Amino acid sequence: MFRKIISAVMMITALHAHAQQNADMKMKTFIDVLMKKMTLEEKIGQLNLPSAGDITTGQASNSDIAIKIREGKVGGLFNIKSVGKIKEVQKIAVEQSRLKIPLLFGMDVIHGYETVFPIPLGLSCTWDMNLIERSARIAATEASADGINWTFSPMVDICRDPRWGRIAEGAGEDPYLGSQVAKAMVKGYQGDDLKKNNTILACVKHYALYGAAEGGRDYNTVDMSHQRMYNDYLPPYKAAVDAGVGSVMTSFNEVDGIPATANKWLLTNVLRKQWGFKGFVVSDYTSVNEMTAHGIGDLQTVSARALNAGLDMDMVGEGFLTTLPKSLKEGKVSLAQINAACRKILEAKYKLGLFDDPYKYCDENRAKTEIFTSENRKEARSIAAQSFVLLKNQGNLLPLKKSGTIALIGPLADNKSNMNGTWSVAADFSKPISLYTGLKEAVGDKINILLAKGSNLEEDSLLEERETMFGKSLGRDHRPAEVILQEALNIANQSDVIVAALGESAEMSGESSSRSMIGIPSIQEKLLRALLKTGKPVVLVLFTGRPLTIKWEQDNVPAILNVWFGGSEAGHAIADVLFGEVNPSGKLTATWPQNTGQIPLYYAHKNTGRPLEGQWFQKFRSNYLDVSNDPVYPFGYGLSYTTFNYSDITLSTSSIKQGESLTANITVTNTGSYEGKEVVQLYIRDMVASVTRPVRELKGFQKIDLKPGESKVVTFTISPEDLKFYNYDLKYVAEPGEFRVYIGGNSDAVKEASFTLK
Ligand code: NOJ
Repeated sequence: MFRKIISAVMMITALHAHAQQNADMKMKTFIDVLMKKMTLEEKIGQLNLPSAGDITTGQASNSDIAIKIREGKVGGLFNIKSVGKIKEVQKIAVEQSRLKIPLLFGMDVIHGYETVFPIPLGLSCTWDMNLIERSARIAATEASADGINWTFSPMVDICRDPRWGRIAEGAGEDPYLGSQVAKAMVKGYQGDDLKKNNTILACVKHYALYGAAEGGRDYNTVDMSHQRMYNDYLPPYKAAVDAGVGSVMTSFNEVDGIPATANKWLLTNVLRKQWGFKGFVVSDYTSVNEMTAHGIGDLQTVSARALNAGLDMDMVGEGFLTTLPKSLKEGKVSLAQINAACRKILEAKYKLGLFDDPYKYCDENRAKTEIFTSENRKEARSIAAQSFVLLKNQGNLLPLKKSGTIALIGPLADNKSNMNGTWSVAADFSKPISLYTGLKEAVGDKINILLAKGSNLEEDSLLEERETMFGKSLGRDHRPAEVILQEALNIANQSDVIVAALGESAEMSGESSSRSMIGIPSIQEKLLRALLKTGKPVVLVLFTGRPLTIKWEQDNVPAILNVWFGGSEAGHAIADVLFGEVNPSGKLTATWPQNTGQIPLYYAHKNTGRPLEGQWFQKFRSNYLDVSNDPVYPFGYGLSYTTFNYSDITLSTSSIKQGESLTANITVTNTGSYEGKEVVQLYIRDMVASVTRPVRELKGFQKIDLKPGESKVVTFTISPEDLKFYNYDLKYVAEPGEFRVYIGGNSDAVKEASFTLK
């Protein structure tokens, strides 16, 4: 019986491989024929990706871009929204250009399309890969219904420096978790078949190491050892490639002294040769041109270097379009290289089925019925509630009772446009649910909700202007600060509980939104102190796109719920958690430091030769005079309305050989009075190795649901594969020796066991 099953499986695999080979041959023949007809200019045209800035509906044919499309000088467009416009532009390509090659239509569909999910950092805090995949699936369905066939997502840059605003766009600090998220998102966008009309091409970015910018300043220099790259920063990009991602975007930064966009080692040796990537590589926005400022040559030089390094498509800057013909004449690039890049773009279009039907994403009926639907918003609400992280809940202040009077106070208390967070270009900013609306809808007339702003976002109006760009205003209040504060204190004094909606605005994180100090802005801090002085219980509902330094708040505010930017349904989702309809289960995916000076602070650090063991401070140990080494909240941390107890760990054996595996069991019990979800986390430490290894690394996790009093045994299987790392020679190996296992509800997990690999 068993043998029969095996041979059936083998036969299906062989048939599948055969069918794939046939499909590849068919694609190759189709593209060979097409490319024979193409002029050099038309081939280079495929490598050009302008932004569609100047196109408005009904005017497409008169735009500058339309002229270029007719001449075959455009391979794809982005920043164009609506099925009507896209159809009009696609028509120019397939009806008015010589070879009728359809266009790619890209967009930054990062955490939802019109239905917006929490910012990616928030999404990652669900630790729920099905939910994350689901959010990407819905985003792809909506985007494809509106004409988009390519998204510039997932962003998988590991970041251990929360000053960097783009930490909001990724999955935090950990390569293992980041890799799981990368896979889930690629699967969500691309589905199992790109030929369908509701799956779209994904683009993993920003390759590579963009999250390691020095000082957390955006676009800044990156410099790190290959050890660190391979072990900590590259795995999520590789995971996306392994999951079949169709395209890769290069990053703005340099890697080993060569900007990523012209880095042959990165784009060819690692990406294509080591990882076997078969899709195409696109630059970031003018990142080809910017290599002149990096100091490696004029536009012609950097464009030629980029192509030779393995870049296929040039976003916005037109370095390829304007200089490659000359470089070819001068022998600086080869026709073979141009052909290879052009083929990659055509293959992507072929795989999407655009040659069969260039309008397959232009179904106006889908646009009317599949976008921002009530079902999608319902899912967004549920996903948002699961992304929130309960940071503190002294005396079980939360959940709130539905009685009495609530004073809702803060610059983010009644705002819609900021709820989506960074990168929500397709969304209508007037549509998200504000916290005030969410609370009111949740309580009806059971509770009296009083509302006041209490303070502006920032004391400095110029700073506030920078932090509320792109129409995401918080409606600056121009009255004197004392008047605004007093108004809030008046309602605070009439209330039973204060809900303070404070933190960052949406545009304080995301691209080009680095901060040197990452606390709650001081004017809001002042408001918070004044609210605490009233003696009323205070719940801090914290909006943020990054970990903040909130040591003082942790010490002084009784309850803190971190809500990131929750998207379209933010207000409803926050109300769901505040009133206990949903028990919070989010766990942090980046460490929250005590102050900026501790950065970079991350759990998987090395031990050093002089680790601080025991009490801080110790002379001649690795610590600071003025702050301990501890974070305020470690990676993996997050509370629930219930409590969980962890038993000791039992290992199935105390030693394994290469090729064997063991199991680690632990019993988790819900010891509180609410049903709740817990993310059970497995960390491993390699005690002795040929190179130094982190003090612990995440190697597995399971999210379980427990009723009050219920226990579950959680089992992790550990094999040598989980023990592997890139050694000094960058070989991926599991070295024999002792390994420690830690299991618990965050990265400080104390339950411990150990085994050896023989
Ligand atoms: C620049 C950003 O770095 C990238 O993430 C984005 O996809 C492009 N602009 C296109 O908008």
